[in-house]
Amino acid sequence: MAGAKKLYIKTYGCQMNVYDSERMAEAMGGAGYVETDTPDDADMILLNTCHIREKAAEKVYSELGRMKPLKAAKPDLKIGVAGCVAQAEGDEILRRQPMVDLVVGPQSYHRLPTMEARVRAGATALDTEFPAEDKFDHLAARPKAQRGPTAFLTVQEGCDKFCAFCVVPYTRGAEVSRPAGKVLAEARDLVARGVREITLLGQNVNAYHGEAPQATNGPDGDWSLARLIRALAEIDGLDRIRYTTSHPNDMTNDLIAAHGDCDKLMPYLHLPVQSGSDRVLKAMNRKHDAESYLRLIERIRAARPDILISGDFIVGFPGETEADFADTMALVEAVRYGQCYSFKYSARPGTPAAERALVDPQVAGDRLARLQALLTRQQREIQDAMVGRTVSVLFERPGRLAGQMAGKSDHLHAVHVAAPGLATGDLRTVRITESAPNSLAGELIAA
Ligand code: SAH
Ligand code: SF4
Ligand code: F3S
Repeated sequence: MAGAKKLYIKTYGCQMNVYDSERMAEAMGGAGYVETDTPDDADMILLNTCHIREKAAEKVYSELGRMKPLKAAKPDLKIGVAGCVAQAEGDEILRRQPMVDLVVGPQSYHRLPTMEARVRAGATALDTEFPAEDKFDHLAARPKAQRGPTAFLTVQEGCDKFCAFCVVPYTRGAEVSRPAGKVLAEARDLVARGVREITLLGQNVNAYHGEAPQATNGPDGDWSLARLIRALAEIDGLDRIRYTTSHPNDMTNDLIAAHGDCDKLMPYLHLPVQSGSDRVLKAMNRKHDAESYLRLIERIRAARPDILISGDFIVGFPGETEADFADTMALVEAVRYGQCYSFKYSARPGTPAAERALVDPQVAGDRLARLQALLTRQQREIQDAMVGRTVSVLFERPGRLAGQMAGKSDHLHAVHVAAPGLATGDLRTVRITESAPNSLAGELIAA
């Protein structure tokens, strides 16, 4: 047999796609592929795509356009589209871009090796089903290779909430939680391979309700996310636990309590609200209002006063008036976000809001600029306030300057420290000395 075939995966979109790409690379490892970090020498290219906004989806076609010369120079090269665009557009991709050999939706990744064999034989392959079996059971077992200090772990996938603007319920399917025993086993395996921080992933991760492990005390109902986090916290060598993304309506009392008393659960919460206007929230089908969100934030801060809150906003949702936008600005002022993502509304085919009249794009653009200016100011104020404080930092990689190491604080701030002898995977106490636009600098404190 000739040398291993090479697989190049390009990942767009959210953290779940990052996790899925890792699992696809492992599954393809079983089919004789090793990963390469450039498309130039690849035998197969997989684009793991995102459909959330029009721009994200269009990127796929421009990337495929750029790959034409590669395919012309190497007719054996196979090109696949995975992820949410694959799910949403299916065989339309094969029609629009005939050089694509394979289209695979997010719930069918365990079938990739079989699909690869088909395209090697000269056929095209399309799979966008939502099969009943658990893809994670069928994906190849993780090889025991060492890993970096941080990892993602998907525990819940899909969404039943159907916000009026959002494609996720269609691209990822119905909400499904993985059994707690399987999550714990995967976490132990990651820790054995060097991981010290795990971020639990789900489109609505706090709605997690996974089957309880059988081994312990028999079936005792589903586990909540809080219960899962407490069990994970008992794993020796796992030092930090995070989770994302949460929905305000699934922020249960036991999860809020865990923020107060579970030391390994980091003081950071991504809790998108999308808008501060009750009228717009209703039109978005969010099923919560601005006041209930603010009260929820208060309760979370009562449990963990230093928690850093992050969020997502959409401006220019159909029907949004200047008064609605003023409500959003007022909510942001009240919350004080440490981190935030904000987007101009993008109409997505197949979603209820896509039928409604758009806000003038210039007006929406102007609102986005005003919102982002406020969010950036808050973010910077909260980051600047870290100067002089002592934080824990998990070092992930060498910094830009010689002798520097970079990592993340418990509040997820990027921190760099110049100290000889620091290594990747070290978790150390650091005093923050400086705040730059996107990172903090600090010095080690003797333990
Ligand atoms: N499950 C998460 C978010 C998923 S999508 C949640 O419920 O909060 C990530 C973010 O993209 C959303 O929070 C929203 O702010 C943004 N987004 C989703 N659909 C969008 C659209 N059609 N136009 C603009 N932004 C959108
Ligand atoms: Fe999309 Fe709403 Fe589900 Fe989040 S909760 S994934 S925004 S439909
Ligand atoms: Fe994008 Fe799909 Fe994630 S649409 S944001 S890759 S769930």
